[in-house]
Amino acid sequence: MQIFERQSDLKSYLKSVADQTTAIGFVPTMGALHQGHLSLIAQSLKDNDLTVMSIFVNPTQFNNADDLKKYPRTLQADIEKIRSVSDKVIVYAPAVEDIYEGKTTSETFDFDGIDKQMEGRHRPGHFDGVGTVVRRLFDIVQPSNAYFGEKDFQQLQVIRKLVSKYNIPVNIIGMPIFREENGLAMSSRNERLLPQQKQQASVIYKTLQQARKMFDTKSAREVTRFVEKTLSGMADFRLEYFEIADESTLLPVIRKSKNKKYRGFIAVFVKDIRLIDTISFN
Ligand code: PAJ
Repeated sequence: MQIFERQSDLKSYLKSVADQTTAIGFVPTMGALHQGHLSLIAQSLKDNDLTVMSIFVNPTQFNNADDLKKYPRTLQADIEKIRSVSDKVIVYAPAVEDIYEGKTTSETFDFDGIDKQMEGRHRPGHFDGVGTVVRRLFDIVQPSNAYFGEKDFQQLQVIRKLVSKYNIPVNIIGMPIFREENGLAMSSRNERLLPQQKQQASVIYKTLQQARKMFDTKSAREVTRFVEKTLSGMADFRLEYFEIADESTLLPVIRKSKNKKYRGFIAVFVKDIRLIDTISFN
């Protein structure tokens, strides 16, 4: 398996195989890989003749220093997991300097306001950090196709905006959420949950499913009250937000409608561990 730490080496390698390559697939990640990440690789391997996965815990998208510090870093185990899918994947695992060259700050982007809703409201500057690193990674890898999970649905829409507004020639592919058996969306942060908390966290997906059903007959306000009530009954759990929002504008949706696509979005703290999830409400 090819593993690169420096963008210059990765670029030289990609140049050397350019003649035999028609489509590069790219899967950006922050590591601590799970089956959700691996499903993105599997799709990329199917669609492209070369797949690059980046593993980089991007400091500029963390608005909380403690979250950045505690983010799991498990490079050796990650490499073994990638190998178990295919040894043809090219891994790019740089140090911070290789991406930021001494200036670890975000650029600012105009994402037409979709970065200001939900995650953006609770994590100021987060999507500028994501946009900064993803644009740099696209620049290095020059992929034909890039794969992002619907787990971070708002991020997926921000990336779609990034490529359309800033004219980056890459096809963005959204992939379904991979879940634990109990319904909990897989996440690198799940590694920090105690077994009992992980079991209890199935409430997040269950509540989303109940909320979807309720929204058939009730208003967003009533559904939100139900979600707040459900979560408030659980020790160690704290609801940060629940919203029903339009898939393209990410603006709140008040009532069910036939002409729009919308989803339920939720962010919950289990002690200091922040979990998010979303499902379609159509
Ligand atoms: P990370 O959280 O590591 O996620 C990498 C990719 O895996 C994202 O596109 C994310 O949506 C997807 N993913 C995570 N959990 C998933 C699941 N349960 N099912 C399917 N896909 C899942 O998202 C990031 O990293 C960063 O913000 C990044 C885009 C790499 C920029 O730093």
